[in-house]
Amino acid sequence: MNKPAFHIFVCASFRAGGESKGVCHKKGSVALLPYIESEILDRGMDAQITSTGCMKACDHGPVMVVQPQGLWYGRVDNEDVVDAIMDALEAGEIVQDYLIE
Ligand code: FES
Repeated sequence: MNKPAFHIFVCASFRAGGESKGVCHKKGSVALLPYIESEILDRGMDAQITSTGCMKACDHGPVMVVQPQGLWYGRVDNEDVVDAIMDALEAGEIVQDYLIE
């Protein structure tokens, strides 16, 4: 198995019952998944995207985590923020404005 250079986890607020009810979902994280996927393909990035359960950082939601870089981003609620993060990943940079520290 080839591990991707970037594994992007997007909180979809899944709960034990399978429902998706948390903050990130309510603020549109799931709606951004197709856009993120299309950006990965358009940019030809070696990246994989996975939607997750609550990452216990709800106050910062919607939350996106990039591994293995260990970057936790918050307030990822629109395509402009996604673009900024993807641009930074390609450049080996960090978007400080959205970083959860
Ligand atoms: S619902 Fe996304 S971090 Fe809790």
